[in-house]
Amino acid sequence: MPYVVIKCGGSILNQLPDAFFENILQIKQQYQLDPIIVHGGGPAISAALEKMRIKTRFINGMRVTTEPVLNVVEMVLSGSINKSITRKLSSMGAKAIGISGTDCGLLTAKKLDYDKLGFVGEIESVNSHVLQALLGQQFIPVISPLALSKNGQRLNINADLAAAAIAKKMNAALWMVTDVPGVMHEGKVLPHLTPEQVEMLIRKKAVTGGMIPKVRAAAECIQSGVKEVVIVNGMEENSLLRLAGGGKMGTKFTGNGVLIDG
Ligand SMILES: Nc1ncnc2c1ncn2[C@@H]1O[C@H](COP(=O)(O)OP(=O)(O)OP(=O)(O)O)[C@@H](O)[C@H]1O
Ligand SMILES: [Mg+2]
Repeated sequence: MPYVVIKCGGSILNQLPDAFFENILQIKQQYQLDPIIVHGGGPAISAALEKMRIKTRFINGMRVTTEPVLNVVEMVLSGSINKSITRKLSSMGAKAIGISGTDCGLLTAKKLDYDKLGFVGEIESVNSHVLQALLGQQFIPVISPLALSKNGQRLNINADLAAAAIAKKMNAALWMVTDVPGVMHEGKVLPHLTPEQVEMLIRKKAVTGGMIPKVRAAAECIQSGVKEVVIVNGMEENSLLRLAGGGKMGTKFTGNGVLIDG
């Protein structure tokens, strides 16, 4: 069965209707696509940090992760968010299994050179054997984006980058589900984007915040040979079913040049 990594943005998670999760089961049953879920949790982490009066900030869409921030990141991502997605899918009859990137060596990473970000990592390896073992038994893995470094340090990984690394390793399609209808430019959704256009949009500041790591992750996937990368709005009705059926929506990343108007 072909694999599809579905990255569920923290931006949209608590608004997604049941139909979205039902779609995940349907693409497996009707389209023979094996889903691998990777989730974010930006707003929930920020809310928890605020409650605990721990300061938080972002640099280029990446969260500055001090030790106290890291504790909250793990608690929220691998705890409440991971469990709520897994519970939701399980209650619909799926064999969903929640797993942290730090479990059984699933994700290893090294700390980014950029010290100002603190305990933020970039993925070095994805243990595909773990995923294949689960998928082979019809489980749906639900992955929280933390990773371990060689010396056993937990690291916070931007969920888009974690999803991209998993898609590359598993030779899977990558669907990035978020709270906007795609990459916007001058008020319109860009239906296609190439890696060169991505860097141009970042330079022009047409792409900012959390969209920066997302489009970079998407572009890198395409350059590494991933066949399908799209950014879609999870609130569009049956978005996943439509993607599975080859429908065009959101922003699709391609390797060859399609000009952006203006
Ligand atoms: N050109 C752009 N087009 C669309 N969205 C953009 C653009 N530039 C910046 N953004 C912002 O990027 C946001 C999506 O990224 P964000 O990281 O906030 O969400 P997410 O990745 O879905 O959630 P999480 O990071 O919690 O997993 C949008 O809500 C929007 O505010
Ligand atoms: Mg994000």
